[in-house]
Amino acid sequence: MTLTAERDATVRAAWARLLRDWLPPPPGDVLDLGCGTSSLALLAAEAGHRVVGVDLSPRMVELAGAKLAKTPVPATVLVGDAADPPVGDQTFDVVLVRHLIWTLPDPYVALRRWVSLLRRPGRIVLVEGRWGDAADPMPYVDGAELMPWPGGVTADRLSVALAPMVASRRVEPLPDPALWDRPVQDERYALIGHLSRPDPYPWTQSDSHPPRLASQARLSRKVLSTEETSNPATIGVLKVRLRASEVLIFDRVTDRPAAIEPCDKDGD
Ligand SMILES: C[S@@+](CC[C@H](N)C(=O)[O-])C[C@H]1O[C@@H](n2cnc3c(N)ncnc32)[C@H](O)[C@@H]1O
Repeated sequence: MTLTAERDATVRAAWARLLRDWLPPPPGDVLDLGCGTSSLALLAAEAGHRVVGVDLSPRMVELAGAKLAKTPVPATVLVGDAADPPVGDQTFDVVLVRHLIWTLPDPYVALRRWVSLLRRPGRIVLVEGRWGDAADPMPYVDGAELMPWPGGVTADRLSVALAPMVASRRVEPLPDPALWDRPVQDERYALIGHLSRPDPYPWTQSDSHPPRLASQARLSRKVLSTEETSNPATIGVLKVRLRASEVLIFDRVTDRPAAIEPCDKDGD
């Protein structure tokens, strides 16, 4: 084996170990969004899962299709926008997305769509990081819509965005050089969110588009309080009970989840 092939095998083995932890026992239905040439989709298919991959680039889909043609369980790869995948009414046990969400113009709407594709008890696995220090929204390519998360997204911020849509979530830091074929200094992690059975937060399932998250929460009985703040950037916040021990703070201006605070059982 050449040195390069040996290093590739080490990287693949490191990701295969993680996928064994993150995915349910095979065979499950796995949707890999922004699948590229199918690095993760291939590992999932080799583990015995039924995989559907989606990528915007026809060339990537062609390369992914060639790699996935040899897997024991048939896999499908589709050209399409990950933010609204062309999978009809098919549902999945796992939605898997690596290194994509930070490029999307509305990651909140995409997250909500992805969670809606899960069948209970499903899980969403997001592998992301914060690679640059760009602060202001910018387009991915000239002329495209602005990305709110240029340079990647921190685990804290992504976790807040996902929190209202799942029953539980956890962050796994991914500093292991074996995963990246080199030591890394920047923040890299997986955020894994689990649905529960049945859905305790029906307001996350509304069909409005884009979802008016705060106003849907307000209609539910989970709103704890509204508060005026002196910060003109937020002009008041809406606090929503998320779980027994967590309160979600919405920014009223952007209508997006902004932070999570601990609370006691009574929500104080
Ligand atoms: C950095 S690569 C990651 C590939 C793969 N997820 C992986 O981790 O190996 C990003 C991929 O997302 C695709 N992509 C970018 N924007 C997309 C979109 N809106 N919908 C679907 N695919 C997209 C690109 O074509 C590219 O293949």
